[in-house]
Amino acid sequence: MSHNAARTPEHPVDSLFVDRWSTRAFTGETIPDSVLFTAFEAVRWAPSGGNTQPWRLIYVKRDTPQWDALFGTLAERNQQWAVRASALVLFVSSTLRARPNDPAEPLRSHSFDTGAAWSNFAHQLSKLGWATHAIGGFDREAARRVAGVPDQYALEVVVAVGKPADSSVLSEEFAKINHPNSRLSVKEIVSQGKFAFN
Ligand SMILES: Cc1cc2nc3c(=O)[nH]c(=O)nc-3n(C[C@H](O)[C@H](O)[C@H](O)COP(=O)(O)O)c2cc1C
Repeated sequence: MSHNAARTPEHPVDSLFVDRWSTRAFTGETIPDSVLFTAFEAVRWAPSGGNTQPWRLIYVKRDTPQWDALFGTLAERNQQWAVRASALVLFVSSTLRARPNDPAEPLRSHSFDTGAAWSNFAHQLSKLGWATHAIGGFDREAARRVAGVPDQYALEVVVAVGKPADSSVLSEEFAKINHPNSRLSVKEIVSQGKFAFN
Protein backbone atom coordinates (compact mmCIF):
# COMPACT_ATOMS: atom_id res chain seq x y z
CA MET A 1 0.00 0.00 0.00
CA SER A 2 1.34 3.43 -0.83
CA HIS A 3 1.27 6.27 1.66
CA ASN A 4 -1.57 8.73 1.35
CA ALA A 5 -1.74 12.30 2.61
CA ALA A 6 -2.80 11.17 6.10
CA ARG A 7 0.23 8.93 6.36
CA THR A 8 3.16 11.00 5.24
CA PRO A 9 6.07 10.48 7.65
CA GLU A 10 7.89 13.56 9.00
CA HIS A 11 11.19 11.68 9.26
CA PRO A 12 12.65 8.72 7.39
CA VAL A 13 11.04 5.56 8.75
CA ASP A 14 10.58 1.98 7.58
CA SER A 15 7.38 1.81 5.52
CA LEU A 16 6.33 -1.19 7.65
CA PHE A 17 5.10 1.23 10.32
CA VAL A 18 3.25 3.58 8.03
CA ASP A 19 1.63 0.92 5.86
CA ARG A 20 -0.14 -0.97 8.67
CA TRP A 21 -3.62 0.30 9.31
CA SER A 22 -6.83 -1.11 10.74
CA THR A 23 -9.24 -1.74 7.92
CA ARG A 24 -12.76 -2.87 8.68
CA ALA A 25 -13.14 -4.44 5.22
CA PHE A 26 -12.13 -8.09 4.97
CA THR A 27 -12.69 -10.74 2.28
CA GLY A 28 -13.56 -13.52 4.75
CA GLU A 29 -11.25 -15.94 2.93
CA THR A 30 -9.61 -18.78 4.83
CA ILE A 31 -6.34 -17.82 6.47
CA PRO A 32 -3.60 -20.45 6.09
CA ASP A 33 -2.07 -21.74 9.32
CA SER A 34 1.34 -20.90 7.84
CA VAL A 35 0.40 -17.19 7.90
CA LEU A 36 -1.12 -17.27 11.38
CA PHE A 37 1.79 -19.18 12.86
CA THR A 38 4.35 -16.84 11.33
CA ALA A 39 2.49 -14.04 13.14
CA PHE A 40 2.46 -16.07 16.38
CA GLU A 41 6.20 -16.56 15.93
CA ALA A 42 6.62 -12.77 15.67
CA VAL A 43 4.73 -12.44 18.98
CA ARG A 44 7.15 -14.86 20.59
CA TRP A 45 10.06 -12.47 20.03
CA ALA A 46 8.50 -9.41 21.65
CA PRO A 47 10.44 -7.92 24.56
CA SER A 48 8.98 -8.07 28.08
CA GLY A 49 9.93 -7.06 31.62
CA GLY A 50 12.33 -9.68 32.99
CA ASN A 51 11.53 -11.76 29.87
CA THR A 52 8.34 -12.84 31.63
CA GLN A 53 6.42 -13.15 28.30
CA PRO A 54 3.04 -12.59 29.98
CA TRP A 55 1.03 -12.77 26.73
CA ARG A 56 -1.19 -15.72 25.87
CA LEU A 57 -3.19 -15.94 22.65
CA ILE A 58 -6.37 -17.89 21.94
CA TYR A 59 -7.43 -18.01 18.30
CA VAL A 60 -10.53 -19.08 16.43
CA LYS A 61 -10.83 -19.37 12.66
CA ARG A 62 -14.04 -18.55 10.81
CA ASP A 63 -16.13 -21.56 9.75
CA THR A 64 -15.00 -23.54 12.78
CA PRO A 65 -17.27 -24.54 15.69
CA GLN A 66 -15.44 -22.15 18.08
CA TRP A 67 -15.99 -19.01 15.99
CA ASP A 68 -19.54 -18.16 17.10
CA ALA A 69 -18.80 -18.10 20.82
CA LEU A 70 -15.89 -15.61 20.67
CA PHE A 71 -17.51 -13.59 17.87
CA GLY A 72 -20.62 -13.33 20.06
CA THR A 73 -18.64 -11.45 22.75
CA LEU A 74 -17.86 -8.53 20.40
CA ALA A 75 -19.87 -5.33 20.77
CA GLU A 76 -22.65 -5.27 18.20
CA ARG A 77 -21.04 -2.38 16.30
CA ASN A 78 -17.79 -4.33 16.01
CA GLN A 79 -19.63 -7.47 14.91
CA GLN A 80 -21.01 -5.56 11.92
CA TRP A 81 -17.59 -5.46 10.24
CA ALA A 82 -15.66 -8.23 12.07
CA VAL A 83 -18.13 -10.73 10.62
CA ARG A 84 -15.92 -10.91 7.50
CA ALA A 85 -12.65 -11.51 9.40
CA SER A 86 -10.79 -14.78 8.81
CA ALA A 87 -9.71 -15.26 12.42
CA LEU A 88 -10.17 -13.69 15.84
CA VAL A 89 -7.29 -13.75 18.29
CA LEU A 90 -7.88 -13.05 21.97
CA PHE A 91 -4.80 -11.54 23.66
CA VAL A 92 -4.68 -12.09 27.42
CA SER A 93 -1.86 -11.28 29.84
CA SER A 94 -0.76 -12.78 33.10
CA THR A 95 -1.12 -10.30 35.96
CA LEU A 96 1.16 -12.43 38.14
CA ARG A 97 4.75 -13.53 37.88
CA ALA A 98 5.24 -17.13 39.00
CA ARG A 99 8.22 -17.59 41.33
CA PRO A 100 9.64 -21.01 42.17
CA ASN A 101 9.12 -21.74 45.91
CA ASP A 102 7.55 -18.29 46.55
CA PRO A 103 4.04 -16.91 46.19
CA ALA A 104 3.36 -15.33 42.80
CA GLU A 105 3.86 -11.56 42.76
CA PRO A 106 2.00 -8.89 40.73
CA LEU A 107 3.51 -8.32 37.29
CA ARG A 108 3.47 -4.59 36.65
CA SER A 109 4.27 -4.65 32.93
CA HIS A 110 1.79 -7.31 31.78
CA SER A 111 -0.34 -4.98 29.62
CA PHE A 112 2.64 -2.99 28.32
CA ASP A 113 4.43 -6.18 27.27
CA THR A 114 1.34 -7.64 25.63
CA GLY A 115 0.97 -4.38 23.71
CA ALA A 116 4.44 -5.00 22.30
CA ALA A 117 3.36 -8.54 21.37
CA TRP A 118 0.27 -7.25 19.55
CA SER A 119 2.44 -4.78 17.66
CA ASN A 120 4.75 -7.58 16.46
CA PHE A 121 1.67 -9.58 15.43
CA ALA A 122 0.08 -6.72 13.50
CA HIS A 123 3.24 -5.66 11.70
CA GLN A 124 4.19 -9.21 10.71
CA LEU A 125 0.74 -9.80 9.22
CA SER A 126 0.79 -6.46 7.44
CA LYS A 127 4.11 -7.43 5.88
CA LEU A 128 2.49 -10.64 4.62
CA GLY A 129 -0.41 -8.73 3.05
CA TRP A 130 -2.94 -9.50 5.81
CA ALA A 131 -4.68 -6.87 7.93
CA THR A 132 -5.43 -6.72 11.65
CA HIS A 133 -7.92 -4.64 13.60
CA ALA A 134 -7.72 -4.61 17.40
CA ILE A 135 -11.03 -4.64 19.23
CA GLY A 136 -11.31 -3.38 22.80
CA GLY A 137 -15.08 -3.32 22.57
CA PHE A 138 -16.01 -6.80 23.68
CA ASP A 139 -17.60 -8.40 26.73
CA ARG A 140 -14.59 -9.48 28.81
CA GLU A 141 -16.51 -11.61 31.26
CA ALA A 142 -18.23 -13.47 28.41
CA ALA A 143 -14.91 -13.91 26.58
CA ARG A 144 -13.28 -15.20 29.78
CA ARG A 145 -16.07 -17.75 30.06
CA VAL A 146 -16.18 -18.95 26.44
CA ALA A 147 -12.39 -19.16 26.11
CA GLY A 148 -11.90 -20.63 29.62
CA VAL A 149 -9.41 -17.95 30.74
CA PRO A 150 -8.33 -18.26 34.42
CA ASP A 151 -8.80 -15.22 36.76
CA GLN A 152 -5.05 -14.52 36.89
CA TYR A 153 -5.14 -13.34 33.26
CA ALA A 154 -6.35 -9.90 32.13
CA LEU A 155 -8.33 -9.81 28.89
CA GLU A 156 -6.59 -7.24 26.72
CA VAL A 157 -8.00 -7.25 23.22
CA VAL A 158 -9.56 -9.34 20.47
CA VAL A 159 -7.77 -8.92 17.14
CA ALA A 160 -9.67 -9.44 13.91
CA VAL A 161 -7.39 -10.78 11.15
CA GLY A 162 -8.26 -10.90 7.48
CA LYS A 163 -7.29 -10.17 3.89
CA PRO A 164 -8.10 -6.54 3.15
CA ALA A 165 -11.10 -6.06 0.85
CA ASP A 166 -12.52 -3.08 -0.98
CA SER A 167 -14.58 -0.78 1.27
CA SER A 168 -17.65 -1.62 -0.83
CA VAL A 169 -18.18 -4.76 1.28
CA LEU A 170 -19.05 -2.43 4.19
CA SER A 171 -22.19 -0.50 5.07
CA GLU A 172 -22.15 3.08 3.81
CA GLU A 173 -21.44 4.33 7.35
CA PHE A 174 -18.32 2.18 7.77
CA ALA A 175 -17.17 2.58 4.16
CA LYS A 176 -17.00 6.34 4.67
CA ILE A 177 -14.54 6.04 7.57
CA ASN A 178 -12.56 3.08 6.23
CA HIS A 179 -9.26 4.71 5.37
CA PRO A 180 -5.85 5.11 7.00
CA ASN A 181 -5.85 7.84 9.66
CA SER A 182 -3.13 10.24 10.74
CA ARG A 183 -1.06 10.85 13.85
CA LEU A 184 0.11 13.59 16.19
CA SER A 185 3.38 15.14 15.06
CA VAL A 186 6.67 14.01 16.60
CA LYS A 187 6.99 17.28 18.50
CA GLU A 188 3.57 16.73 20.07
CA ILE A 189 4.65 13.41 21.58
CA VAL A 190 8.37 13.86 22.37
CA SER A 191 10.21 16.42 24.51
CA GLN A 192 13.78 16.63 25.70
CA GLY A 193 14.51 16.45 29.42
CA LYS A 194 11.16 17.56 30.81
CA PHE A 195 7.48 16.96 30.17
CA ALA A 196 6.54 19.81 27.82
CA PHE A 197 3.14 19.02 26.42
CA ASN A 198 -0.28 20.67 26.55
C1 LIG B 1 -6.47 -1.46 22.36
C2 LIG B 1 -7.26 -1.11 21.13
C3 LIG B 1 -8.64 -1.19 21.13
C4 LIG B 1 -9.37 -0.89 19.97
N1 LIG B 1 -10.74 -1.08 19.97
C5 LIG B 1 -11.44 -0.88 18.83
C6 LIG B 1 -12.84 -1.20 18.77
O1 LIG B 1 -13.44 -1.68 19.73
N2 LIG B 1 -13.48 -0.97 17.60
C7 LIG B 1 -12.85 -0.46 16.49
O2 LIG B 1 -13.50 -0.30 15.46
N3 LIG B 1 -11.52 -0.17 16.52
C8 LIG B 1 -10.81 -0.37 17.65
N4 LIG B 1 -9.44 -0.11 17.68
C9 LIG B 1 -8.74 0.41 16.48
C10 LIG B 1 -8.24 1.84 16.66
O3 LIG B 1 -9.33 2.74 16.57
C11 LIG B 1 -7.14 2.14 15.62
O4 LIG B 1 -6.05 1.29 15.86
C12 LIG B 1 -6.69 3.61 15.69
O5 LIG B 1 -7.70 4.48 15.23
C13 LIG B 1 -5.43 3.85 14.84
O6 LIG B 1 -5.70 3.50 13.49
P1 LIG B 1 -4.82 2.46 12.70
O7 LIG B 1 -4.77 1.19 13.51
O8 LIG B 1 -5.57 2.28 11.39
O9 LIG B 1 -3.46 3.05 12.52
C14 LIG B 1 -8.71 -0.42 18.82
C15 LIG B 1 -7.30 -0.33 18.83
C16 LIG B 1 -6.58 -0.68 19.95
C17 LIG B 1 -5.06 -0.63 19.90
